[in-house]
Amino acid sequence: MRRKIVAGNWKMNTTLKEGLELAKAVKENAESGLPDGVSVIVAPPFTHLTGIKDVLPSSIGLSAQNCATDESGAFTGEVSAKMIASTGAQYVIIGHSERRLYFRETDDELNKKVNMALSNNLTPIFCCGENLEEREKGIYTEVVKKQIELGLSGIDKDDFKKIIIAYEPVWAIGTGKTASPEQAQEMHGYIRNLLAEMYDAEAADKVSILYGGSCKPSNAAEIFANEDVDGGLIGGASLNAADFLAIARSF
Ligand code: 13P
Repeated sequence: MRRKIVAGNWKMNTTLKEGLELAKAVKENAESGLPDGVSVIVAPPFTHLTGIKDVLPSSIGLSAQNCATDESGAFTGEVSAKMIASTGAQYVIIGHSERRLYFRETDDELNKKVNMALSNNLTPIFCCGENLEEREKGIYTEVVKKQIELGLSGIDKDDFKKIIIAYEPVWAIGTGKTASPEQAQEMHGYIRNLLAEMYDAEAADKVSILYGGSCKPSNAAEIFANEDVDGGLIGGASLNAADFLAIARSF
């Protein structure tokens, strides 16, 4: 059975104090139980990782939202995968559309980041997804194919098995407009087939593919009910512990 995962991407929100309070609220809410086989991960800003690591039980995963392409050196303002791992975090989001768009991160850089994460024993949560124009032009599968092929280029099967994929259509992020369950399943099925071609059917069958984009307690169940949707990468709704855990309980 594939791992079911609900991950909260806090983006650039919360002060340290607010972040610690949110992490405590997530922990307390999770104590009242989660469906079998569902893992919860939180991805706060870098500045909060160490403090939040002390608050969270080991059953809740901790993720960064980005990492540098290099391990150390003269890269003012960057944070390396090695530094992230040293906080006790186990995951890192790579290739979020906001990084691709606002910070001009290229497929080549994202591929370096995936390698950096893996070589520091962090699990990459690798994001892909088309924008509205690409969706309307009907080229969304080609766009996602290219992002995955280039982002995971050179990653062997053993390393691929450690990766989590997140499909986040850009037009659904923060817009209140969710992909329909059919649109989500179409893309998740497409991605799994692509991964089966790149690796093999068994490896593709085991990888968790999360959906992201305006996922909330009111729509999570119908999205998660799809065969190839293994959970969600949650933005806005992850800033409220009750909503976030309600999403995790939607399986
Ligand atoms: P929203 O849930 O706010 O649409 O954000 C989705 C997202 O970008 C998660 O990474």
